Amino acid sequence: MNPLGRLEDLPADYREALTRQNLVPLWPSLRALLPPLEPQPKTRATHWSYAALRPLLLQAGELTPIDKAERRVLVLANPGHGLEKMQASAAIYLGMQLLLPGEWAPSHRHTPNAVRMVVEGVGAWTTVDGEKCPMQRGDLILTPTGLWHEHGHDGSEPVVWLDVLDLPLVYYMEASYHVNGARQSARPTRSDHAYARGGLVPSPVFERSRKAYPMLRYPWADARAALQALADDPLGLQAVQLSYVNPETGADAQNILGFHALMLRPGQTLTLPPRSPAAAFHVIEGAVSVQVEDQHFQLAEADTCCAPGYRAVTLANASGSTAAFLFMADEAPLHRKLGVYETR
Ligand SMILES: [Fe+2]
Repeated sequence: MNPLGRLEDLPADYREALTRQNLVPLWPSLRALLPPLEPQPKTRATHWSYAALRPLLLQAGELTPIDKAERRVLVLANPGHGLEKMQASAAIYLGMQLLLPGEWAPSHRHTPNAVRMVVEGVGAWTTVDGEKCPMQRGDLILTPTGLWHEHGHDGSEPVVWLDVLDLPLVYYMEASYHVNGARQSARPTRSDHAYARGGLVPSPVFERSRKAYPMLRYPWADARAALQALADDPLGLQAVQLSYVNPETGADAQNILGFHALMLRPGQTLTLPPRSPAAAFHVIEGAVSVQVEDQHFQLAEADTCCAPGYRAVTLANASGSTAAFLFMADEAPLHRKLGVYETR
């Protein structure tokens, strides 16, 4: 390929004249902006061990009271972007959040969409849009853009969950802000029961829900049973995979990031093809080995990793004779809406 002129090839007085007028020559940066054939992602395949981060998160509970943190979170930051950027990929933010017994994370709402994947502990709850959602290991709870939410904890042990947000993208768009609110009056969530059977939705007097987010809590017990049913089907496909969707429309559960659950049968290896969106993986049960390019991670239960887009990801069950279960978040809804989604 024809090498393009460099910035330093230009006379200094010419560069200074450009700078004074807020002008920049394109050609020295053209190859970096539009690299040949595929992007050069900053996102680096990265593994976060839960055993390594858990004591540090619990230490944060001692060092910083909840009223000094509001949200006591250690961010899973991708070194490829620089840790200070606090992003796992271009659009994905991951954080491990700790709530101690009796603590309350006050009500607020914000423009970025969030979900919680519960990692450990019982007795915590998240109230979203007035629905009080219990939090148990593996449950997925949505806190979509603009909906009030708060967290509380009536149990006796620390509770930890994985936050997944589209914060890097919304921040990049200069559209990120939050509003604090008063404590919500809450009713027990019903949406997880109302949509507990695939293919059936409530239609009282022929009226369907028009809510943008009709289902806020996706219990792990239901997702796990659905994966197991797929795996038990003798005509079933090789990949045992589910997507979290809006049960009224079948569309992605949220607008920007997509959420999925995967099961790996004992001994199974599954290669996900190279796709444009980056993805994050979190082990709910079992052990999984992950290969992305030359990176090889051994994920134990509750470990998390991320992979850049345009790269194949090979997942292998490393749990011996039991199944392994993974939660996955990706940037696919964003890429599809923008028309840049690709599978290679
Ligand atoms: Fe929040």
